[in-house]
Amino acid sequence: MSLDFEPSHFKTLISQSADIVNEWYGSHLREKPIYNNYNPSEIQAFFDEPLPENATEAEELLETIRTNIFETSNFNPSPNYYGYITGGGNQAAILAEILRNALNQNNLKWHSAPANSEIEKIVIKWISKFIGYPEDAAGVLVSGGSVANFLNLAVMRKIKCPVDMANEGMYSAPIMTVYVSEQGHSSIDKGMDMLGLGKKYLRKIPVDQHFKINLDSLEKAIIEDRENGFLPSCIVGIAGTTNTGSVDPLRELGELAQKHNLWYIIDGAYGLPGAGTQLVRDQFDGLEMADSILLNPHKWFFVPFEVACVIVKKKEHLRDTFSMVPDYLRGGKDQSDREDLMDYNLQLTKDFKALKVWMTFKAYGAEKLRLAIENDCQLATYAKELVEESDDFELLAPVPLSIVCFRYVGNGGYSIEQLDQINDQLLELIENDGRIFFAGTKIDNHTSLRINLTNHRRTASDIDFLFKVLRELGQKAESELKA
Ligand SMILES: Cc1ncc(COP(=O)(O)O)c(C=O)c1O
Repeated sequence: MSLDFEPSHFKTLISQSADIVNEWYGSHLREKPIYNNYNPSEIQAFFDEPLPENATEAEELLETIRTNIFETSNFNPSPNYYGYITGGGNQAAILAEILRNALNQNNLKWHSAPANSEIEKIVIKWISKFIGYPEDAAGVLVSGGSVANFLNLAVMRKIKCPVDMANEGMYSAPIMTVYVSEQGHSSIDKGMDMLGLGKKYLRKIPVDQHFKINLDSLEKAIIEDRENGFLPSCIVGIAGTTNTGSVDPLRELGELAQKHNLWYIIDGAYGLPGAGTQLVRDQFDGLEMADSILLNPHKWFFVPFEVACVIVKKKEHLRDTFSMVPDYLRGGKDQSDREDLMDYNLQLTKDFKALKVWMTFKAYGAEKLRLAIENDCQLATYAKELVEESDDFELLAPVPLSIVCFRYVGNGGYSIEQLDQINDQLLELIENDGRIFFAGTKIDNHTSLRINLTNHRRTASDIDFLFKVLRELGQKAESELKA
């Protein structure tokens, strides 16, 4: 029994869906609240119903999607959205998303998705070229930075573990230690956990006042671990920390990795696209020394969710780690120039992520993307200067890329505990208000406002608007403290 619509009906529904998309981008950008502050039970009430046994008209469903999903969702394409290092998406890639869903390719083997397989290789090359990583490196697209960190650690474990870990497990292996700064992303801890490497063997190295890894402490930790019978195996350098955007000294880390024979990963999930720009590329000097890297196009290449990439210098390292071909995957012509992406990834069935990345590079060109990234950095500097010039805000960290950490200090004279209270309250007020959106973090254990500028639609007047709202809500939080 076919589930298809009659062709002209399908065409009408596509057109109605397109209207929803257009309306979302047309009317919302700056005019409407971007967060509606529903509570879970209100959202549940829209959807909580018994398993639908009978069909509902598609027109009715599209209307439900428009009112109950689009209108209740965070409007993260907006320049007033500063949360969670979100790239804001781009419209050319949305077209790619719509079309690739219609294609419904299963990108496991070359013959099941020919264009998909080749385009994925090409966009990995383009990304490498853009940031200055060797172009003969190879990689795969995955869902996000957390999965990419997991895959990179899996490759490292495979290559550096002295026992045949794939067959024997980790049981007879020496304890492998991995080094990252205390600003490393939590997905690295998760990867250590899931891969059986153990979270406690992820050595968290202190950072300096710029939130960069302290090299002396790192080398000392490696030497001590070796003396104590551990197997120091890997350094993870961070190219754009999640908290402040700091970039570790990548060349020095590469040299230390070589000196001590360690695998070298660079987690550039957020920051690595900056390496392709005139403005901030110096900070990424030495990135080509990494054995493997990761980068999220869904962050600073402005591609809609989800897409990240893992890139390794030697392709065979991915293949050695992930390739496994059972009988039911052997079909098709045996042609050596066909590469099956399943051989380079944990995933077997995979969607066509490459099309939206390809579309982004082709529709805008690398130069425009560079300018958009630089614009974010310049606006971050502008926000930093507004903070520094003001009496009622205070900067909490340097601004090397496009993240700004600061707090509201109001009229001054508050204790550090009171400042935490005011800023915690301010973060709640931001949600209640809905005109702007971001979440906070902790800097040196104290509440920080943290804005992420990774959206090509933003201008200086958006930053002015942000501070106008923050000032208004900050004063409210201050008066609530006094009350
Ligand atoms: C440095 C870094 N690594 C990894 C990740 C995880 O990426 P994802 O959210 O795509 O899983 C992030 C997310 O912000 C990040 O900033």
